[in-house]
Amino acid sequence: MSTSKQLGISGEQEEDADKRRLEYSKYADQFDHQNQHNPAYHELQDLLAKWIPYFSLGTSPAVCDLGAGTGSFILRLHEEIPGASFVHLDKDKNMNNRAREKYKQASISDIRLVEELIQNGSFSSEQFDLIVCVNALNTAPPQQISLSMMHRWLKPGGWLFVVDFGRKQNVFDWAVYCAYHAAKKDGFTSMLKYAAGCTQAFKQNLFAKKDQANGAMWLHGMDEFREMVASAGFDIEHSSQCYRGYADLVVAQKDPIVVPEPNPL
Ligand SMILES: C[S@@+](CC[C@H](N)C(=O)[O-])C[C@H]1O[C@@H](n2cnc3c(N)ncnc32)[C@H](O)[C@@H]1O
Repeated sequence: MSTSKQLGISGEQEEDADKRRLEYSKYADQFDHQNQHNPAYHELQDLLAKWIPYFSLGTSPAVCDLGAGTGSFILRLHEEIPGASFVHLDKDKNMNNRAREKYKQASISDIRLVEELIQNGSFSSEQFDLIVCVNALNTAPPQQISLSMMHRWLKPGGWLFVVDFGRKQNVFDWAVYCAYHAAKKDGFTSMLKYAAGCTQAFKQNLFAKKDQANGAMWLHGMDEFREMVASAGFDIEHSSQCYRGYADLVVAQKDPIVVPEPNPL
């Protein structure tokens, strides 16, 4: 296992991790329930799907999702890229267990599941054609080193699709947004049931807000985020705000090869 020193984690950053109160283990059972009425979450998956043809990944690409959570992005990618092999990495046992159940339900057995911190990932250099990392980098300090590791793990010409929640969490705004969509889709009574099933998720999002306030969760703007991805050695193909303006998306390539088509955004 890598030591903090090997990873370049400073005392200050270790202290940040100690301060962290958001526990994905407690979030795991409600993560998918909450997201069923979070259209912005599904839009992120649609966005990724739009990019897939542009990446020209070939017939049997190696794909890795870092901070893969309950596996929703891998399930979508499994549909979008037949023939791909997948690695699911996440530090949290309960999130991974939920993902395992979902992969089993979908009769997908060829996904390698790694229970590990991104920072301790021990993949070979030039192993992957595509790395996806959605809303996990903000708790993978030092982010600059995590991004450099992603760059190392990609093959030349490989792609990074990274989304990171960088703005201050407004738990009330998200609760209203999701409740509104639940009521619109299934009616008021169903919305109340839905909300009752989100209490732990709500609590964990309040912790995330505190983590952001005390520096345990990385906050950033688009320019800082772009700069960090570029400093890790990537060529940036696209950047934009996403996830209702709370997050940034960067699509970037390692050692670009010429792709003639205009990109999808
Ligand atoms: C907000 S969830 C996103 C999950 C998934 N990417 C999605 O969008 O459905 C963040 C996930 O990243 C994982 N995570 C956070 N920091 C991590 C780290 N440093 N190393 C590995 N996993 C991490 C958490 O356990 C959690 O499952």
